Amino acid sequence: MRGLDGRIALITGGGNGIGRAIALRLAEEGASIAVLDIDPAGMGATAAAVRALGRRVECESGNVGDPAAVVRAVAALEQRLGPTDILVNNAGIVRLAAVLDTTNEDWREIMRINAEGMLNLCKAVVPGMVARKRGSVVNLSSWLGKAGRPYFGMYSATKAAVIMLTQALALEIASSGVRVNAVCPGLIEGTPMRVSAEEQSRKVGMAVAKDRVATIPMKRTGTPADVAKVVAFLASDEAAYMTGQAVNITGGMWQH
Ligand SMILES: NC(=O)c1ccc[n+]([C@@H]2O[C@H](COP(=O)([O-])OP(=O)(O)OC[C@H]3O[C@@H](n4cnc5c(N)ncnc54)[C@H](O)[C@@H]3O)[C@@H](O)[C@H]2O)c1
Repeated sequence: MRGLDGRIALITGGGNGIGRAIALRLAEEGASIAVLDIDPAGMGATAAAVRALGRRVECESGNVGDPAAVVRAVAALEQRLGPTDILVNNAGIVRLAAVLDTTNEDWREIMRINAEGMLNLCKAVVPGMVARKRGSVVNLSSWLGKAGRPYFGMYSATKAAVIMLTQALALEIASSGVRVNAVCPGLIEGTPMRVSAEEQSRKVGMAVAKDRVATIPMKRTGTPADVAKVVAFLASDEAAYMTGQAVNITGGMWQH
């Protein structure tokens, strides 16, 4: 498939895990790739893999939670590659704590990266899309943005915020033709975040992915590529009549 030929896609957190899989999938579909991440080594590895597919790639270091850094990075990337057609807000972190033990510092930090980060990128990129009447935004939420679970309270709150911002922005700009959707992955293995979530789950006595596979209807955890395929679809014109949606990618674990 080459459904994204000539498009320019900006992926936050594209230096590792799901973000890298999305970068590679969009590149396979023909897009040029821009990456914004705080991990230069990870970005270097993603860039090499994109180039090996014969696609253009540009990277900028910057924290999505810092609005000034985001404005600078977006301007630098767009100057080198051209205006953004596809924005994937993927950068995120996970912190586990019982609600009553949640520190205000952790709350502010996870909100700043997972929710405000998306807001910062949308403010820097979407006005240009609306002016050009062309573009697609895909935001990484989680099934935990729809379901509260013990110790995931602050993470769930950030991912619910992502869904609500997705819905509101989608409706605000729907008539421009720019679409805004979210994806809600379930248990996705093979990423640094999953390793961190597993370590934190063990510490608080929560079941780890291996022990939860039996509860997943499809009897397997997901892969970054499983997520990347759905993101590529939502980013493409194949999803031309979809906006404001939050699509589950959970092997049947969550249905609402
Ligand atoms: N892995 C899962 O099981 C899972 C499930 C549901 C949703 N998600 C969501 O998918 C997204 C990607 O998850 P992943 O598992 O690939 O995570 P990951 O930790 O493997 O990768 C996240 C990337 O974001 C970057 N990043 C972190 N903080 C940043 C910041 N402040 N500014 C810029 N870049 C930053 C990291 O350097 C890294 O490259 C996240 O939003 C996560 O919440 C993951």
